[in-house]
Amino acid sequence: MDNNRILTDFWNLLNITSDYLKTGDKEEHSGLTISTDSLEKIAEEISVCTKCKLCETRNKTVPGSGSVNPALMIIGEAPGADEDKSGLPFVGRAGQYMDKWMDAISLEREKHLFLTNIIKCRPPGNRDPHPDEMAACLPFLQRQINIIKPAIILSVGRISSQVLTGKNEGIGRLRGKVYKYRGASLIPTYHPSGVLRNPEEYRKPVWEDLKQVKVCLDNINLNE
Ligand code: URA
Repeated sequence: MDNNRILTDFWNLLNITSDYLKTGDKEEHSGLTISTDSLEKIAEEISVCTKCKLCETRNKTVPGSGSVNPALMIIGEAPGADEDKSGLPFVGRAGQYMDKWMDAISLEREKHLFLTNIIKCRPPGNRDPHPDEMAACLPFLQRQINIIKPAIILSVGRISSQVLTGKNEGIGRLRGKVYKYRGASLIPTYHPSGVLRNPEEYRKPVWEDLKQVKVCLDNINLNE
């Protein structure tokens, strides 16, 4: 299947699942609609989710973790082996390396970040997530974003950056710009595992992207 076809299938599936987003998790009170959704509720739903075949091979679901009021939300692709074992995002080598990026801009995991992925279960052998798997899982991420309302999102890697920008381009072309996603400033960058494989090529652009994150953070602090 070529890339355009994959993207078209993905957006078609997304339209089907968007109906799901418009229902549930809300209550009427004297004419006002109040959301009763919560990160805990979403994590519970994810833990018993059977919407795609990844439920057959996962060990633990990985809903995401961190601050409920983060300075920055980081969105990766999918859990790897370490995350599938622990149920926590970005705990393997790539995640530990990403902690160093955050250190460089004075952000701490539990205090300043919420970390999650486009899909919440590990694809076998770390293969790319399939379009139907992403479409089935994306409503969970959108509900998390509705609750957290991040001002800034850092998408790491090609897959999460393509899904959130809606653009079918390589990460080298997507990065270097600030986009909007559900009210947040979205900054795409390389995936930490890619940078670990090829630091000579990717370390410098990642540092540029982190400086952009810092500019956005500083702008928010100035306006508060
Ligand atoms: N890579 C990701 O994209 N996400 C994780 O949680 C771990 C590795």
